[in-house]
Amino acid sequence: MQDRSQLGDTPPEVFRDQLHQLVDWIADFREGLGNLPVAPNDKPGAIRAGLPSAPPEQAESFDKILADINHLIVPGMVHWSHPMFLGYFGWTQTGPGILGELASAPLNVNAMTWRTCPAATELETLVVDWLRQWMKLPKEFGGVVYDTASVGIMHALAVAREEVAPSTRKLGLTGRNLPRFRIYTSDQAHSSAEKAAIALGLGEENVQRIPSDAEFRMDVPALRSMIERDLKDKYKPLAAIATVGTTSTASIDPVADIAKICREHKMWLHVDGAYGGGFAILPEYEWITKGWSDADSIVINPHKTLFVPLDFSILFVRDLERLRRVFTLVPEYLRGDTIEAEKNYMDYGIQLGRRFRALKAWIIWRSLGRAGMVARLREQMRLTNLLVDWIRADERFEIAAPVVMPVVCFRFVGTVAGVGDAGPGSAIPATRFDQVNSEIVERINASGRAYLTQTKLCGQTVMRIGFGNVLTTEEHLRAAWELIQEMAEEILEGRAPSRP
Ligand SMILES: Cc1ncc(COP(=O)(O)O)c(C=O)c1O
Repeated sequence: MQDRSQLGDTPPEVFRDQLHQLVDWIADFREGLGNLPVAPNDKPGAIRAGLPSAPPEQAESFDKILADINHLIVPGMVHWSHPMFLGYFGWTQTGPGILGELASAPLNVNAMTWRTCPAATELETLVVDWLRQWMKLPKEFGGVVYDTASVGIMHALAVAREEVAPSTRKLGLTGRNLPRFRIYTSDQAHSSAEKAAIALGLGEENVQRIPSDAEFRMDVPALRSMIERDLKDKYKPLAAIATVGTTSTASIDPVADIAKICREHKMWLHVDGAYGGGFAILPEYEWITKGWSDADSIVINPHKTLFVPLDFSILFVRDLERLRRVFTLVPEYLRGDTIEAEKNYMDYGIQLGRRFRALKAWIIWRSLGRAGMVARLREQMRLTNLLVDWIRADERFEIAAPVVMPVVCFRFVGTVAGVGDAGPGSAIPATRFDQVNSEIVERINASGRAYLTQTKLCGQTVMRIGFGNVLTTEEHLRAAWELIQEMAEEILEGRAPSRP
């Protein structure tokens, strides 16, 4: 039988020591981050092999656990906050963001209703409205915090589905002689559209991909003709998704033109601003908001661009009551908790339990202010333009897509010192460039010296750099660019990867 004095929580003085230890560890980690490899180069399973597979039977000390984090976990990580991490959309980790996460930990509430935590509910309403004001959205837009944009779009399309096929929440879709619904988005849009269609029983194949133009924006006449064809074939157009900041190139769809078509056909318009939406806080990006006020829903991920740590995504809906109508459901055991007139956020989605996400947003946004975020985003654009200049100055590389936000897609298309596929002096066949571009990225990522990603544009493999990290300086960028040039030479000269 266990001694009862050993039960309960860690004694306060021990906890305080552990906290100090952890806080020092966090500060050391952040300070030394730039010296770590950006990514591991292990084979799958290598990390698990270093960890005991049997669950712990007896308590272990925090010292031992922290040591394991240092020795087993940290080396097995891709460090998204590393100054040389230039993959995906960059990453906006900051000191105040970490403080926000830390401050949330001891509070650990379940903000399912207003009564279960008034402060969490009211702060959520407040920060959502701060973002609305920064985005200059009309007051009729209300919002809710979810973990990700994928969850946001699913909820938005659930409302669209209910409005076009009333009582779906009650009766479901089957056996009701309903038409097949169609959702339209560009060939550059994120796959969360299909995921939502799968989850909502709308069917992945009913997401129609509209071709994009030379600047990777949805081709609006093509959207129009696709809808007309579908109508002839007895499909029912349900929604269009316009993207502000597409995943590969950060291109901006012509939202206002798409909105016009949505109005004509009484379709739901969802704006996917998961990445690009946040740029609307910059006066020079106000143009991207054209047409937003005609949208039915807009998703923005402050965890991508507005410095809130993952995960923090806001779905705005014009008249939030439309969302509540679809998802409110009060079980008897919660009825007593839902009598107040205040919002109960459990009514605005499928999630019942909700963490206090608003706190970290409130902390980071107060710590930086709009001005601080604007300055940092402008610095990202400065670095972006610098990189574009360097790429343009090296004739072996070309820019592969217009640069609208801090995302640069580019491609190696040259030769190195007369070395070609078929031997010195020969030209490189065009088909080999895909492989070379991909291999440059693979070798850099495996080296642990930097991290970038690749994508396909017009069927060709291109390299891609995304900015976001506040720790990334011009010197880091210069080092990354030299590494890319060096890797291209290494590959074309047929040299084996040089590992540090
Ligand atoms: C344009 C766009 N929309 C949606 C998403 C999905 O975001 P989340 O990971 O928050 O679901 C992404 C992810 O990168 C994206 O780029």
